[in-house]
Amino acid sequence: MAVASPKLIEILKRARKIVFLTGSGISAESGIPTFRGAEGLWKNFKPEELASFNAFIKNPDRVWEWYQFRRDIILNSKPNAGHFAIKDFEKHFPSVIVVTQNVDNLHRAAGSSEIYELHGNIMKNYCIRCKKRYDFEKFTLKEECPKCDCGGLIRPDVVWFGENLNDSVYSAAENSVDEADFVIVSGSSNIVYPAALLPQIAIRKGIFTVEINIERTELSHMMDEFIAGKSGDIIPSLLREYLES
Ligand code: OAD
Repeated sequence: MAVASPKLIEILKRARKIVFLTGSGISAESGIPTFRGAEGLWKNFKPEELASFNAFIKNPDRVWEWYQFRRDIILNSKPNAGHFAIKDFEKHFPSVIVVTQNVDNLHRAAGSSEIYELHGNIMKNYCIRCKKRYDFEKFTLKEECPKCDCGGLIRPDVVWFGENLNDSVYSAAENSVDEADFVIVSGSSNIVYPAALLPQIAIRKGIFTVEINIERTELSHMMDEFIAGKSGDIIPSLLREYLES
């Protein structure tokens, strides 16, 4: 049975600029746990209790251990059919942009050309005192939070709750959505702001919006179409159905 409606396929045929807005669900089939939901919790901590500067200062080792746990999984994971299908859209449309809340590098590993990482990249780090960078270092495999030569704590270069997103990355993401004629939102609970504003920009502008998720989210009722299912199944099917139409 087709996953896409005839209307969706017709609109896709006229699309020139497609934006994918992705969250942790798109990497679930690569074996990376999502943040929320029963399987998303690490040692019963909510992400909001670990992903903040205050949490880090209070207990650097615990926060580092969480990132370490996630890095270990990410280092051993590969892009899945969803990531690869997004890359394959590039063969058939003039512009395909990925805006992701994920810090796992998997869209890059799949070969996507234009990616905006709203929340940073988990493999990059810097010293909170002197700002020296420690990208892709071996010490990331240690349990306790490492220190810089200057004695400062080293933190991951990701955006924490209460911190601002990188201005130029967020503006580029906003512009991409603003200029898009087709927006696909997949694998996000759409509750973390400002990332959750991006689909709303598209909705307000009347850009055709599709959500692909295993369950409905806060935004589902506002989207033009909601397709229930795993991104690794639905995104490749969508492309196949478009190509066969
Ligand atoms: P969440 O964990 O909040 O939501 C994951 C979403 O993916 C849920 O809506 C699931 O239903 C859906 N999902 C799970 N498996 C899926 C699959 N195979 N295919 C499609 N959908 C699937 O993750 P995010 O929305 O990405 O931020 O979380 C947003 C931010 O909260 C993260 O970037 C992180 C976190 O705290 C920071 O650390 C700043």
